[in-house]
Amino acid sequence: MKRDKKIAWSRISSSSLNLKGMQVAIVGGTGGIGRALSRFMSSRGATVTVVGQTFRDSDVPGIQFIKADLSLMSEAQRVARLLPAEMLDLLIFTAGIFAGPKREETPEGIERDLAVSYLNRLVMLREMAPRLGEKRPKGRIKPRVIVMAYPGAGQIGTPGDLNAEKSYKSMPQHMNTVAGNEILVLDAAKRYPQINVFGLNPGLIKTNIRSNLLGQDSLRFRLLERIIGLMTKSAEVYAEQIAPLLVTSDIEKHSGAMFDSKGQAILPSEGLTDSHIKKFIAASALLLSNTTVRLAS
Ligand SMILES: NC(=O)c1ccc[n+]([C@@H]2O[C@H](COP(=O)([O-])OP(=O)(O)OC[C@H]3O[C@@H](n4cnc5c(N)ncnc54)[C@H](OP(=O)(O)O)[C@@H]3O)[C@@H](O)[C@H]2O)c1
Repeated sequence: MKRDKKIAWSRISSSSLNLKGMQVAIVGGTGGIGRALSRFMSSRGATVTVVGQTFRDSDVPGIQFIKADLSLMSEAQRVARLLPAEMLDLLIFTAGIFAGPKREETPEGIERDLAVSYLNRLVMLREMAPRLGEKRPKGRIKPRVIVMAYPGAGQIGTPGDLNAEKSYKSMPQHMNTVAGNEILVLDAAKRYPQINVFGLNPGLIKTNIRSNLLGQDSLRFRLLERIIGLMTKSAEVYAEQIAPLLVTSDIEKHSGAMFDSKGQAILPSEGLTDSHIKKFIAASALLLSNTTVRLAS
């Protein structure tokens, strides 16, 4: 990853962050990093709606829940229409899995990792972006979309076989979702000038994300996560460190920027040219044409 030295922001301490009155939706806020963000932001006064499969914070004031299986594009569309987009200051995407050892397909005919970690975000973003934040009180920073994945790592994906029908291997398929998410940021930053869109790369953090690859109860999964937990920061520490970035006005003029695990700006992956982005999005729309969902423009 290469630093983008043209973008800088001044960090304020997370303990002095006042998020009172702020409306946040975290798609994937029921677990891992999204959950840590949801708990931290609500503790600082934000009203947070989390979307996921299992709600674990019913005892936390300020957090509401919408249940959805985001492997289904019909569900992504339903939730996007249900969320109060017009009132949102921040829309954060953190839902994801890791492609398993064998290719799995959703009932809509989409490879499961692609569906859960990328395609539902495209559907939701297209549905919500045109309305995002438009009914908020005046004088706030532009409404923001935050896309968490692994930007800046040089992944451009394989739009010729997004659905991994010609060949399937767990890691390259997951990289399609990594590329897709970076593309989502770059494309949306140009498509929607009235909002700001940023990409986040959290680095390695001990969560549940690798369970689908290694098996939830396997010794390999538990050992790997223990090592990651010893060597890297926790989801809670990352959430506290990154929250000030999510609300700072310093990055207001830098829609499309990506940030590393420390919140430093990084350059987008080389190879994500306008023509490649167009091809990747067209391939995504084609996959959706087999479902009941059509991509909003
Ligand atoms: N952790 C890392 O080392 C790491 C590294 C690089 C990038 N990232 C990125 O960071 C983001 C967050 O990952 P994480 O590590 O926090 O993962 P995580 O602990 O596994 O959490 C993933 C979230 O996605 C939700 N989710 C999974 N399948 C879903 C489905 N079918 N329908 C609805 N929600 C679903 C989970 O909800 P339920 O639990 O309710 O199902 C959970 O809230 C992802 O985009 C990931 O790619 C993580």
